[in-house]
Amino acid sequence: MNLNTFDVVGLVLGFFLLLTVYLTETGVLKALTLPTARPTIDMSHATTTPLYTVSDVALHADSASCWSTINGGVYDLTSWIDEHPGGADAILALCGKDGSPAFEYQHEGESRPEALLASFRVGTLRE
Ligand code: HEM
Repeated sequence: MNLNTFDVVGLVLGFFLLLTVYLTETGVLKALTLPTARPTIDMSHATTTPLYTVSDVALHADSASCWSTINGGVYDLTSWIDEHPGGADAILALCGKDGSPAFEYQHEGESRPEALLASFRVGTLRE
């Protein structure tokens, strides 16, 4: 049998075509290539901070460690006790308990106290 250049090219191309079909069908190619669309995990239900119970917060009830829950957030106010322009006592009164009514009564809608409070956040209150 006499093979010319075109025959050889045809055979080689045919071989690779069959090889590609075979590898695709068997899933070998798929396993070798990186997935174009990565699976996404739905994290929308997750909170970015740890969850704490009312009793967790109650363990931090004095100036050594002062946590308070305000509108569903858990805040570590320890460092703020001696810095508060409204006095240490106003903060100490919130340690270990729900500070929402006091904070809202005094500071609701005030940007500086609200922004500062956000910086003290350590977690979220578990319902
Ligand atoms: C729990 C977190 C609290 C944070 C982060 C906070 C933050 C602040 C900040 C940043 C100021 C200065 C406001 C400014 O310069 O514009 C302030 C002033 C004041 N806060 Fe608070 N506060 C808190 C709780 C309270 C509570 C519970 C009370 C009262 C029961 C209170 C009473 C006051 C008063 C009376 C002032 C005014 C002091 C003055 O101008 O002489 N604060 N607070």
